[in-house]
Amino acid sequence: MESFEFRNPTKLIFGEGKIEALATEVQHYGRNVLVVYGGGSIKRNGIYDQVMEQLSSIGAEVTELSGVEPNPRLTTVKRGIDLVKEKDIDFLLAVGGGSVIDCTKAIAAGAKYDGDVWDLITKKAKVKATLPFGTVLTLAATGSEMNSGSVITNWETNEKYGWGSPLNFPKFSILDPKNTFTVPENQTVYGAVDMMSHVLESYFHPATNTPVQERMGEAILLSVIDTAPNVLDDLENYEYRETLLYSGTMALNGVLQMGARGDWATHNIEHAVSAIYDIPHAGGLAIIFPNWMKYNIDTAERKLKQLAVRVFGVDPSGKSDRDLALTAIERFQEFWTSLGAPTRLADYDIDDSKLDLIADRAMARGEFGNFRTLQKNDVLEILRMSL
Ligand code: NZQ
Ligand code: ZN
Repeated sequence: MESFEFRNPTKLIFGEGKIEALATEVQHYGRNVLVVYGGGSIKRNGIYDQVMEQLSSIGAEVTELSGVEPNPRLTTVKRGIDLVKEKDIDFLLAVGGGSVIDCTKAIAAGAKYDGDVWDLITKKAKVKATLPFGTVLTLAATGSEMNSGSVITNWETNEKYGWGSPLNFPKFSILDPKNTFTVPENQTVYGAVDMMSHVLESYFHPATNTPVQERMGEAILLSVIDTAPNVLDDLENYEYRETLLYSGTMALNGVLQMGARGDWATHNIEHAVSAIYDIPHAGGLAIIFPNWMKYNIDTAERKLKQLAVRVFGVDPSGKSDRDLALTAIERFQEFWTSLGAPTRLADYDIDDSKLDLIADRAMARGEFGNFRTLQKNDVLEILRMSL
C-alpha cells in the first residue's frame, strides 16, 4: 500500500423518511438558504414539497436556483454565486443528483473567492474558503454526496474539468432510497455504470499489497451486478434501490481509495467527450471503459483475470491469463449492454470528425492515467476503438 491520510467529514443520514432530519441539520449552519435543484423532477415526485416544509418549520429564508443542467454549466454556477451575494446566503442545499451537487460545490467555493470561479475549477487558484452546504440526494450514481469533487462544464469553450478541495465536503447528506424510486430506467442504468466505473478506476492502480481494497471493490461490483437488472424490472423496490444507493456512495467516498491511487484515465477521456458532445457521463464510460481495458490489456491482465474469476465466476482451469482477461472485458461490456447502455460513440451520433479536439481536451492538463500513463496518441487510439 501507499501511505495515506483519510478524513471524510460528511455526516451521512441514510434511510426511509430521513428527510425529517433536514430542519435540525440546516439549523446548525444558517437561516438564509439557497436551494439548488435541476429541471423539475423534485417538483413532480414531491421531494421539493418535503424540503420546503422542513425549511419553513425553522423559519428559514429560502432562495431558489433551479434548472441546473445534467453536466452542470459554468453559467449556472455563476448565476448561483450572484444569488448568494445578492441575498446574503449563508447555507446552500443541493436537492438532486450529482450535477446539482457538483454545481452547489462550485457555488460554495466561488462565493468565497474574489475572482472568476473558473480559476478554481481549472486549478489556477486554490480554494481557501467555502460556504457550508448539505445535500438531499435523489439519484444513486456519482458519490458526490460524500466526496469533495465536482465536475463543471464551460460550454462556451467546450471544456469540462473535475476539481475539488478538502474544504468542499457536504456537511451532511440525506439519502432515502425512496427518493430514487422515480429515477427513470436510463438514468438508473447510467448510475449503475458510473458506480461500477468508480470501483474499476480505483481497482486499476500501481500499488502492491491491496487485497482488502480489491475485495471491497469486488463486493460492490458483485452487488451492483446482482441488483441492477432486478431494479429495472421493479423500479420502486426499496431493497434494490437501497443497495444501489449505498453502493454509489461507497464507490467514491474515499474508503476504496485508501492506500492506492487509481487510474482515472477513462473518466478523463469521458469528460473530454462530454465537453464537446453533451452526452450522459456514464453513457460515455460504458463505451470507453471496455476499450481502455483492451488497449491496456498487457498492464491490466492480472487484475482483469482476477475480476473474471472473482466477479464473474469464470472457471480458470485450462484458460490462459490472457483469455481470462479478455473474458472479463467481454463480460463487463455484455453486462452494460444487457442493461441498455450504449456500446459505441456512434450510438450518440459521434463520428471521427472531432477526435483530435477531444484528445486535445483530454490532454489539457498533461499526460494522465496513474495505472498506465496515456499520451495523446493513446487517447486517439482508444477513441478510435470506441467509434
Ligand atoms: O434535473 P432533474 O429534473 O432533477 O432530472 C435529473 C436529470 O435529468 C434526473 N433525476 C435525478 N434524480 C431524479 C431524477 N429524475 C427522476 N427522479 C429522481 N429522483 O436525472 C437526470 C440526471 O441527473 P444528474 O444529476 O446529471 O446525474 P448524475 O448523478 O449521474 O450526475 C452526473 C454528473 O456528475 C458528474 C458527471 O460528470 C456529470 O456531470 N460526476 C461527478 C462526480 C463527483 N462529483 O464525484 C464523479 C463522477 O464520475 C462524475 O464525473
Ligand atoms: Zn463517474
